Amino acid sequence: MSSSTDILIIGGGWIGLAIAIELKLRGMREVRVLSRSFTEAAAHVAAGMLAAQGEGIRTGPMLDLCLRSRAMYPDWTSKLTAITGEDTGYWSCGILAPVYEIPDNITTTSDAEWLDKKEIHQYQDGLGADVVGGWWFPKDAQVDNRRALAKVLQMAAQELGVEVREGIEVKEIQQQQGQVISLQTNRGELRGSHYILATGAWSGQLLSVPVYPKKGQLFSVRVPESYQELPLQRVLFGPNTYIVPRRDGLIVIGATAEDVGFSPHNTPEGMQALLGRAIRLFPVLKYFPIQEFWWGYRPATPDELPILGPSPWQNLTLAVGHYRNGILLAPATANLIADFVCQQKSDPLLSHFRWNRVSLRS
Ligand code: GLY
Repeated sequence: MSSSTDILIIGGGWIGLAIAIELKLRGMREVRVLSRSFTEAAAHVAAGMLAAQGEGIRTGPMLDLCLRSRAMYPDWTSKLTAITGEDTGYWSCGILAPVYEIPDNITTTSDAEWLDKKEIHQYQDGLGADVVGGWWFPKDAQVDNRRALAKVLQMAAQELGVEVREGIEVKEIQQQQGQVISLQTNRGELRGSHYILATGAWSGQLLSVPVYPKKGQLFSVRVPESYQELPLQRVLFGPNTYIVPRRDGLIVIGATAEDVGFSPHNTPEGMQALLGRAIRLFPVLKYFPIQEFWWGYRPATPDELPILGPSPWQNLTLAVGHYRNGILLAPATANLIADFVCQQKSDPLLSHFRWNRVSLRS
């Protein structure tokens, strides 16, 4: 594709911005991002874990994609810092994944160490008494998504000359003879020569792709000032809950996974479940002052894999459905999509995430 192609990215969340930045770095001149509301993006909701292993995906192309993206993070975040002068909060702190029941298959590898009950309690003070063992994933990491990387992505896009238009809602994608011809928006008709869909949980409202919202509720606490040192310096990812400590004493705790459509707000039921699970895993949390509650929508798909690459329309590329792993997968997604759009290069991994795979129809 020629560097003068005018690319319109629909969706100004992390995936849209990461792709826009990558396209600009590869010399594309005209890159526009249409964002309905940056604050709605799933990445603002997330806790910022880079849990390629912590999420429990044990094999297959999704694990390969997650590992690839995790490996890209140090360079990707350094590059963003070089462009903007701002820190992203990347921290290669590792993830400890405690369990309450011993699993059947336990094999220790160089990047996944099994710890028995005695070892895990020695390794991490303050775990719940009914933790019976767990995995240590030293290469998993985190990024400060809400307070740092969100701003850095916007600044980097601006610095590189991406035109980000906030407050633009795409109402309809108009198609003719296998091509997208224009977008109907709340500010009139917009045209480009290539389009990229990165609209997260709302994608199914614009195109017939099987992407739907899976709500997550989260909260944060702060370590009291009386503590001489932070009681947690790695992520804890227990059954149905994770506890993500930041280096300045904030601790982010998530998350529910609810099939309730776009139904907003924190709920007593959701918060009760979340608080109970977090306190069971790391009991001292019950004394820490609560800072904030919030919620948002993950872009889920039936097989929990993203939809990446070509679409039925020749000039529309898809980058949707990242479900629980949007922050982790941003750099790899940007790279794969930029390869595909700029050079028509289709990485073998991309074929596992195509829009018409069988598992999407079940
Ligand atoms: N990646 C964590 C979550 O989606 O809750």
